[in-house]
Amino acid sequence: MSARLVQQICVPFRYPVCFTRGVFHPDNPVLAEALCSREPDRRHRVMVVVDRGVANAWPNLAVSIAEYAERHASRVCLAGEPLIVEGGEDAKNDLVAVAQVVAALDRHRMDRQSFALLVGGGALLDVAGYAASTAHRGVRVVRVPTTTLSQADSGVGVKNGVNAFGKKNYLGTFAPPFAVLNDSLFLWTQSRRDLVCGLAEAMKVALLRDAPFFEWTRANTAQLARGEREVIEHAVRRSAELHLAHIASSGDPFETGSARPLDFGHWAAHKLEALTRHRIRHGEAVAIGMAIDTLYSAKIGLCPEELPRAVIGALRAIGLPVWDDALRAEGEQGRPLVLEGLSEFREHLGGELTVTLLCAPGRSVDVHEVDEDALRSVIERLGAMEAA
Ligand SMILES: NC(=O)c1ccc[n+]([C@@H]2O[C@H](COP(=O)([O-])OP(=O)(O)OC[C@H]3O[C@@H](n4cnc5c(N)ncnc54)[C@H](O)[C@@H]3O)[C@@H](O)[C@H]2O)c1
Ligand SMILES: [Zn+2]
Repeated sequence: MSARLVQQICVPFRYPVCFTRGVFHPDNPVLAEALCSREPDRRHRVMVVVDRGVANAWPNLAVSIAEYAERHASRVCLAGEPLIVEGGEDAKNDLVAVAQVVAALDRHRMDRQSFALLVGGGALLDVAGYAASTAHRGVRVVRVPTTTLSQADSGVGVKNGVNAFGKKNYLGTFAPPFAVLNDSLFLWTQSRRDLVCGLAEAMKVALLRDAPFFEWTRANTAQLARGEREVIEHAVRRSAELHLAHIASSGDPFETGSARPLDFGHWAAHKLEALTRHRIRHGEAVAIGMAIDTLYSAKIGLCPEELPRAVIGALRAIGLPVWDDALRAEGEQGRPLVLEGLSEFREHLGGELTVTLLCAPGRSVDVHEVDEDALRSVIERLGAMEAA
């Protein structure tokens, strides 16, 4: 005798992604409204976590946040001084920052309806978001992303993670935020390197989803490279919209399948980040990974030769790298070490290897086999192009 019950649970997620300027200015209602959106008549407890890079660049931030809470005291109650946590990729390479955030959540007696307000770049959001998603099995998170990459991509999505065993994001959770508040003022204090880095993800989503946006980035490379505010803000906004649309419409927001269609160029990117011990940033690694995969797409006849020329030309003109000497690192029998990224990518997702390639701007295809000889010749060609 056996029995079989079928449980089905459908949980809709809904969160606002707001674009604003001066999110902690007392007159700006966006944050208070976001915190109160579910229980408008309650006072909400908020623990603030700030990326050290942001805290250094904005020495008055803690005072501004305190003034904000005072002005909105009927709705917002700070749990204490902001917790300052190391930002950047190093913070993802061990569990120190995770432990700091979890301990602070406990110390301040934050419950599942309290808020962790996370202010920082993609790395801080990944680390603190991971911590917040595990404390009490998840406290509410409001993200204030402060870099191009986090406002254009990571901060508006549903993933957290830290690196372990030499692998990117080996530990992590899917945890949609309560709200995302993109404040463009933060963009202007990040380094020029980080300002440009995040544009790789904008270019990526343009190539996959929006041919006119790709043409727009090509037409505006000089303005993007100069960091002109209007063009950067447009690139960030359009990229965020496209990422959100993908998560909402892909049918697989928590990536249970083998494909990860927005991770164009990422199998090589993640491996390059590890091979260089994070000397290169995620955005830079993505630019290199996209150069490889676009050249490979042309090499196997999926797209015309003009496409890699256009993509590589635009990436370079924006100030992004398309080559790193780590691509020359070899393992057994002269096999480029970066190729290990393919099996690690498959392992991370599960199922069969799925790599997204390009047919045209705005049109991609998933393939399940990769011709290693062709890939090696593409990497050699990229090296020759770099040397020329
Ligand atoms: N969760 C996801 O879906 C997802 C998606 C893409 C990328 N990521 C991750 O995001 C990370 C990269 O994030 P990133 O590009 O934002 O860089 P980052 O978070 O590493 O930040 C770069 C540096 O800028 C500093 N900083 C941040 N904001 C600043 C500001 N406004 N002013 C001055 N300094 C500032 C930080 O302290 C850090 O030193 C990678 O770990 C990547 O894997 C996650
Ligand atoms: Zn990425």
